[in-house]
Amino acid sequence: MENRKTDNKDFLKTPKGMRDFFGVEFVKKQNFFEKAQEIAEYAGFQGIETPILEYTDVFTKGVGDATDIVEKEMYTLNTKGGDHLSLRPEGTAGVMRSYIEHGMNSLPQPVSVYYGGPFFRHEKPQKGRYRQLYQFGLEIIGSKNPFYDAHIMNTGYRIIKENTGLDIKIKINSLGNTPSRARYIAELVDFYKKHESSLPDQDKQRLSKNPLRVLDSKEDATILINQSAPKIIDYLDKESLDHFSIVEDFLKKNKIPYEIDHKLVRGLDYYSHTVFEYVVYDEHGNASFAIGGGGRYDGLAEVMGYKKEVPAIGIGIGVDRALELGLTHPKDTEENFCVLIELSEHARASSYKLTHLLQKEQIPISRVSNKHKLGEHLGLAEKEGFLYALVIGDDELESESVSLRDLTTRTQSTYSYKEAIEILKNKLD
Ligand code: HAM
Repeated sequence: MENRKTDNKDFLKTPKGMRDFFGVEFVKKQNFFEKAQEIAEYAGFQGIETPILEYTDVFTKGVGDATDIVEKEMYTLNTKGGDHLSLRPEGTAGVMRSYIEHGMNSLPQPVSVYYGGPFFRHEKPQKGRYRQLYQFGLEIIGSKNPFYDAHIMNTGYRIIKENTGLDIKIKINSLGNTPSRARYIAELVDFYKKHESSLPDQDKQRLSKNPLRVLDSKEDATILINQSAPKIIDYLDKESLDHFSIVEDFLKKNKIPYEIDHKLVRGLDYYSHTVFEYVVYDEHGNASFAIGGGGRYDGLAEVMGYKKEVPAIGIGIGVDRALELGLTHPKDTEENFCVLIELSEHARASSYKLTHLLQKEQIPISRVSNKHKLGEHLGLAEKEGFLYALVIGDDELESESVSLRDLTTRTQSTYSYKEAIEILKNKLD
């Protein structure tokens, strides 16, 4: 309890980099996950939920202890029982832990799963960067086939596109297989050694720990040096080149807009072969944000101590960024279908018989309370684009009836609950 930074006046705020979701923001986030889940299920993925806390080694071994997210950004705690646990900074290592723990290699391969929820990274908060962030992820575990690389990119592309309407492009690169990558890294280190005196301190450190990361440095001096850095594509062996060209063929066939970025390396250690990022461009045509990213991680299972290679590919979509950057969050028509106006507190507290029937018949409704006069409610509902209003007051409650108003034609009649629901059901079909 000592060493507390927060004094009494601060505790009624969310911790730095974390936020509450309520009202429209809550609905938007919920809708994103629902739509993403629907697209993933039609694309052949099944849901998985792993714990938010894992043994710290899942991430130090899995993601790599020289990566920023593990070395600098992980929330780690020691439990009273002596366990070293961490809040998950990403989803892939936990899903692979689950695959190994439950012997999922005995299921038909590959195993295709989706997941969503909060992740935690102790980063410097700014626009589009949170300490509690939300991701929707897909993983296909148990196949080397490059078809799956393209399939997962395609599915991710549709999830982002259909949820946000954004103009996105996929940047792709290949990190090759292990021998190709080792050859390239040796060449890259030699190249940087020649320029070491001009490298900023941060990149000198990266060079000793994680040389590939120097390639996507944001430091001006390094960006200049990187213009003449060797390209990994020139060091790929036949197996790696073949894999990459099949992925490209699939992307072309499916008309997925992509471009090759030789400097794309991604921030996590487990990648091999295909890596990719979904990028949004600003009005000047400059890449502004990665809204998602992923890649192949054929070596991860072995790095985590499994007895043999388990080839796999996955993607993580940044839900916070998708919601913030979404140009036109497509209005869910069901969301604005019908509003239920309860004219008194008694009506609000006693309309459960009607709302239960509506729920049973899956008629989507928004509820509003008795704050305004009926005319004001109807005016607001029209303005918000609702199609129908159900109005219930004390008299209607007594006779188990409800007024149904068509907000487009401004006509209304009173019906029994059953009749009104039948009419609305027909309108929905
Ligand atoms: P990642 O690139 O670290 O990959 O994260 C995926 C996406 O999460 C990013 O592109 C970004 O949109 C979002 N994101 C990351 N950090 C933050 C933050 N602090 N605030 C808001 N959004 C953020 C992974 O996590 C890998 N597990 C992806 C993957 C799955 N690779 C293979 N399978």
